[in-house]
Amino acid sequence: MFSLAYTFSLLAIVFLILKIYTKVKTSWCKSKVCLIGKTVIVTGANTGIGYEASLEFAKRGARVILACRNEDKANHARDQIVKETENENIVVKLVNMASLSSVRKFAENILQTEERLDILVNNAGVGALRNKVTEDGLQVLMQVNYFGPVLLTILLIDLLKKSSPSRIINVSSVAASRSKLTQGNLNEFGGPFLCYCNSKLCNILFTMKLAKLLKTTNVSVFSLHPGVIYTQIFNSLQGISSIIVGYFAKYFFKTPEEGAQTIIHTALEQGIEVHSGKHFEECAITSTYGTAKDSILMDSIWNETMELLKCREIANNLVS
Ligand SMILES: NC(=O)c1ccc[n+]([C@@H]2O[C@H](COP(=O)([O-])OP(=O)(O)OC[C@H]3O[C@@H](n4cnc5c(N)ncnc54)[C@H](OP(=O)(O)O)[C@@H]3O)[C@@H](O)[C@H]2O)c1
Ligand SMILES: *[C@@H]1O[C@H](CO)[C@@H](O)[C@H](O)[C@H]1NC(C)=O
Ligand SMILES: *[C@@H]1O[C@H](CO)[C@@H](O)[C@H](O)[C@H]1NC(C)=O
Ligand SMILES: *[C@@H]1O[C@H](CO)[C@@H](O)[C@H](O)[C@H]1NC(C)=O
Repeated sequence: MFSLAYTFSLLAIVFLILKIYTKVKTSWCKSKVCLIGKTVIVTGANTGIGYEASLEFAKRGARVILACRNEDKANHARDQIVKETENENIVVKLVNMASLSSVRKFAENILQTEERLDILVNNAGVGALRNKVTEDGLQVLMQVNYFGPVLLTILLIDLLKKSSPSRIINVSSVAASRSKLTQGNLNEFGGPFLCYCNSKLCNILFTMKLAKLLKTTNVSVFSLHPGVIYTQIFNSLQGISSIIVGYFAKYFFKTPEEGAQTIIHTALEQGIEVHSGKHFEECAITSTYGTAKDSILMDSIWNETMELLKCREIANNLVS
């Protein structure tokens, strides 16, 4: 009896310390930028850090386009944001990142209906999926986390350029540092965790490449690691790890609001444009992961991606 109580109090103290550590370590975006007259797209905006970032953009007066795959969840998020911010200019537009034709349709709709686009946040992502190939012949996790957002970004570049200074934010992860990606295996599975790591490394390499290509424009591109946040992304875990996360980790992971801070920072902070292409963490530039230092890998992944997406031509005209 005594030892049980003892164990629990010890655990409680450990959690408390971890929670305090997370709180202290989290940086908050300090920007006061107002977004009235600006348009922002956030993919995967119905929940998690995408929702929290959208809420903040709405508070600042932006027109926020919630780019989601599930209409009910998206409408629910919209109602919640409108209620909380009294900003009525919040729009739901449906897109499934696992389908290139859906991404194309979404982009066409944006180009036809929106006059401008100031900030694009590529946030939608999945943590782990089984080995499966989509209708487009691509590994599904790679497509949701990487190929879909790449196509979306490329299709929206002209609008972003027209609205510049504008920004593209790619939500990556520190998991990118665990990637084993080499040339020519972009579309291989290699297990759910490795596939996630590879997709997140691609986010970073693509950000670096695009920033280079867009150097002469006023479109800045940033990638980031948001921290470890308690969101539904961990629902895909199974076995012991799901129990650990479900019962304990929620107490010391970041909250979604804390997790959204680096998205908000890279989207809004003035003066960071000169750092286009850099990777951020805790509202600051962070050192490049070892896996993201290979510029030949960056170029070959870019080439491979353009081939797989059949968009080399658009990509060649990015800067003109
Ligand atoms: N949580 C973390 O600790 C952590 C750490 C590092 C990086 N990240 C990154 O942060 C981003 C957001 O994650 P989160 O933790 O906020 O996760 P989350 O709560 O699971 O939210 C993910 C969002 O992506 C959407 N989504 C998933 N598949 C999609 C598809 N095929 N088409 C369109 N939308 C899709 C989800 O829509 P539904 O609601 O319809 O499923 C949801 O809105 C991800 O890119 C993730 O890799 C998270
Ligand atoms: C990342 O950045 C580049 C350029 O900013 C963009 O084309 C690409 O679609 C973005 N998204 C991902 C998920 O890599
Ligand atoms: C970028 O912005 C600067 C400063 O506002 C401006 O002088 C320049 O013409 C812009 N360049 C392009 C390509 O739009
Ligand atoms: C990528 O493609 C370009 C143009 O086709 C080519 O010049 C370059 O050598 C390729 N780079 C790599 C690393 O594959």
